[in-house]
Amino acid sequence: MSRNLIQLISLLAMVFLPFTEAAASEQITLKFSHVVAENTPKGLMANKFKELVESRLGDRVKVEVFPNSQLFNDDMALEALLLGDIQFAAPTLSKFSHYTRKLQVYDLPFLFRDMAAVERFQKSPTGQQLLKSMEPLGLTGLGYLHNGLKQISADSPLRVPADAMGKKFRIMSSDVLRAQFDALDAISIKKPFSEVFTLLQTKAIDGQENSWSNIYSKKFHEVQPFITESNHGLVDYMVVTSTEFWNGLDNDLRAGLKQAMEDAITYGNQMAEQKSVHDRQAIIDSERSEVLQLSDRERDQWVNVMEPVWHKFESDIGKSVIEAALASNNTP
Ligand code: LMR
Repeated sequence: MSRNLIQLISLLAMVFLPFTEAAASEQITLKFSHVVAENTPKGLMANKFKELVESRLGDRVKVEVFPNSQLFNDDMALEALLLGDIQFAAPTLSKFSHYTRKLQVYDLPFLFRDMAAVERFQKSPTGQQLLKSMEPLGLTGLGYLHNGLKQISADSPLRVPADAMGKKFRIMSSDVLRAQFDALDAISIKKPFSEVFTLLQTKAIDGQENSWSNIYSKKFHEVQPFITESNHGLVDYMVVTSTEFWNGLDNDLRAGLKQAMEDAITYGNQMAEQKSVHDRQAIIDSERSEVLQLSDRERDQWVNVMEPVWHKFESDIGKSVIEAALASNNTP
């Protein structure tokens, strides 16, 4: 190789190598914190997001997922997002009331007829607008993720509302859920998801409400002899990021992360549908907890006791938001 060519290659290396190194050193690490097990709709979605981002943008982005409340519980996670300590979280829609009261619509008991109605509302203009409702406070909703409808578990069979009277139930940090159990003349205790199993096991509480996936993945059915298949409420999520972080990204990087998140959510929603059926059957097959199905008359009693809760929160949520959610029950 001629002397000139060697000199040219050396010169080019000195000029471009730093940029290559600089480009490689620009790889950023994004943290995704959540509170459930990995083998759940949200756990699977978060891991799929990591897989997609690192396969499509691996030279620029690394994703670290922290399941099972390893880093934060949901309340702390939202603060951590705003402080820049993490970049993604996906709390249940019940847990945003410090930032917006409108999302309480998702907690109204017996409002959504089924998950198809939830999906229609979330995709509606009103549902999509709610994703942006917290941006003035620094939180941007990237999408909704399903888990499923809620059931009520207890240490004794709950067939009619009076069966819940005086019993202690763990609830998520939501005033609507407190009002719901007040309507049953029951006692509600706001506690993080990570504490529920121990509270049930030590009989510090008598019951709780959650989706089939959350009950099964955290083994609540092993310490709760009865589960009433009430389908009275919802465990769904909003995937959120810091507005400042999100808007500060290069346009192409933000577009890539947005697409990966949408694809991961699509996958997570498929898992939610499968796990709701599988986990309910696995609980029944375990024979550790008896699943009680309500007659139409029994269910009507729960609806009649709980539905008045809606009116208490109408001014908070907005009549138009509640009407749009109710309209989603009508099949197109
Ligand atoms: C709960 O706190 O019961 C749920 O929000 C946990 C979860 O993230 O599904």
